[in-house]
Amino acid sequence: MLRPVHRWVWGDFDRRVRKLMAFAKVEGDGGRDILRAAEVTPDPLLRRLYLEHAIDELRHADLFRERGAALLQRRASKATTLFDSSPLPGGHGLDDLAIEGEPDHRLLAFLHVAEKAAAGRFAIYRDVVDDDPPTRAIFEQILRDEVFHMNYTYTQLARVKPESYRRQVWRARGSRLWKRYLRVAAALAGLMGGAILTIMYFVVLAPFAWLARRAQRREPVGWIAISQHDQDSPTSQY
Ligand SMILES: [Fe+2]
Ligand SMILES: [Fe+2]
Repeated sequence: MLRPVHRWVWGDFDRRVRKLMAFAKVEGDGGRDILRAAEVTPDPLLRRLYLEHAIDELRHADLFRERGAALLQRRASKATTLFDSSPLPGGHGLDDLAIEGEPDHRLLAFLHVAEKAAAGRFAIYRDVVDDDPPTRAIFEQILRDEVFHMNYTYTQLARVKPESYRRQVWRARGSRLWKRYLRVAAALAGLMGGAILTIMYFVVLAPFAWLARRAQRREPVGWIAISQHDQDSPTSQY
């Protein structure tokens, strides 16, 4: 449904470079978090898989960064465009990843949902950058890794939580949706706050200025003599 929007986002050169650089950051951060997961897990098989996964994500970060840099070298960046970043969420969603204190089954469920979303998005991106074969090849290659990540996390989740792995995935989906909602709600609140303050500025300030000017006209100008009676105050020391 959003394919035309993705095409529009990726169609602009500067936005494309910024997207690639943003992906490099998310993939790199995700890779480092999964590396940490490999350190803390008590499960030897998961440790090996996490390690492989982390290496993949760090390689994705390098691929995205190198491609972004190559594009930048080809043409110096021009002035900013309408949107500095895309209005759509990014590829991976690994930026929400929290390792410390999370049991393996919850991490696996989170990773499965994130990798599945990433695989879906990277498939769309691969199709919309058909004018740029090297970038397309990178998405193609990364997509294969993401599908592997999506599958191994599900298989391992079913191994460590055979009785409730489906519920774990639904829970992870729910929490991902909730975080999405919070992000959208916060952005919407910011927009609404700006709109309401702008409306207040024009609606409240103009009548206030008009009333103040009218009150000013009623005031006598210059020094004003006060009545004789007001001069002697029984309580004042002067
Ligand atoms: Fe990745
Ligand atoms: Fe991945």
